[in-house]
Amino acid sequence: MKAAVLHEVNKPLVIEDVSVPNPGPREVLIRTRVAGLCHSDLHFMEGLYPHPLPAVLGHESAGVVEKVGSDVTYVKPGDHVVTCLSVFCGTCDNCTTGRTVLCTDTTVKMLPGASNRLSWARSEKLNQFLNLSSFAEQMLVHENAIVKIRKDMPLELAALIGCGVITGYGAVVNTAKVTAGETVAVIGCGGVGMAAINGAAIAGAGRIIAIDTNPVKLQLATKLGATDVVDPRNGDVVQQVRELTSGGVQHSFEVLGRKETAEQAFAMLAAGGTATIVGMIPFGQKIELHGFDFLRERKIQGSSMGSNHFRVDMPRLVEFYMRGKLHLEDWISAKLKLSEINEGFAAMKAGKTVRSVIMFDA
Ligand code: APR
Ligand code: ZN
Ligand code: ZN
Repeated sequence: MKAAVLHEVNKPLVIEDVSVPNPGPREVLIRTRVAGLCHSDLHFMEGLYPHPLPAVLGHESAGVVEKVGSDVTYVKPGDHVVTCLSVFCGTCDNCTTGRTVLCTDTTVKMLPGASNRLSWARSEKLNQFLNLSSFAEQMLVHENAIVKIRKDMPLELAALIGCGVITGYGAVVNTAKVTAGETVAVIGCGGVGMAAINGAAIAGAGRIIAIDTNPVKLQLATKLGATDVVDPRNGDVVQQVRELTSGGVQHSFEVLGRKETAEQAFAMLAAGGTATIVGMIPFGQKIELHGFDFLRERKIQGSSMGSNHFRVDMPRLVEFYMRGKLHLEDWISAKLKLSEINEGFAAMKAGKTVRSVIMFDA
């Protein structure tokens, strides 16, 4: 099968012939139908986060089950599934207490470099990325890395739920637990930020302020539920948000992964407010906050994959789409072939796309 391989950071991905073995007892072989391009892939391609190379990237996908291992009862061939990098064991302390995104069982949630699921004709090891590697025609994954979905859900939209949508929506609904009427600001309106805005609208947030340097994104954000928009090019972002809200927001979300925007997220909070950092700030970089701001009970927290319980959350997101509450069709800016993947990342770098997806042949 074909897969897009990252050989070296800051070099284009190369399409290579790759193979996967038959599923082990708890593994599932999936025919990949759609894979979204997420900014996290780009962070690794640019070397801002380390990963053993060569590797097949990609972690936002949907497909059809092809084969299952001997102990798998959850799915059968032909089932439609969405993948999630938040693979869980179900028995460690974090899983048992309901925080499956923080699963500590490294035999299931394998650390970078540990999986042997991919091979090729060369002698060097080919690494699986985040236990998924979606930029490939087939994926071999643990059964707890997938969720079944209804077959009338379009797979290109379902794929988006696998990372961008669950990450943004979950940050608002699961991590920050935004309640009806609260004020929200979202910094960075790419695929993940749009999902945070749409999630805030579903949660019934009062004021939803979208912040992005791209006016096209701000326009779409309004369609998804933003009540106000702020363009950082029109002046100090924190001041603009403070003016709009007479003193700051109750919840801010940083959905870009930069030091300065993380600091803005904290600085734009009202007393008692909470900043949630969703973006991946470059590895090793520190952020600076005014210590005084903590006196007024401001909080800052991380959110990993929207603190999801994806087997419950993702089918609910599918239902939100079916009921017209989640506007997934507006997310997709381009449908690409696997061979066009580098063009897709170039467009992301230019800030042009909300989401590009790779469509694999059925
Ligand atoms: N202030 C606000 N928005 C900005 C700024 C800025 N200074 N600079 C760029 N942006 C906007 C871009 O215009 C774009 O719309 O931020 C958005 C980023 O979107 P994407 O590149 O599509 O990123 P996305 O895939 O949504 O991921 C965002 O979340 O999960 C993490 O790893 C992911 O760190 C990444 C973040
Ligand atoms: Zn992602
Ligand atoms: Zn676990």
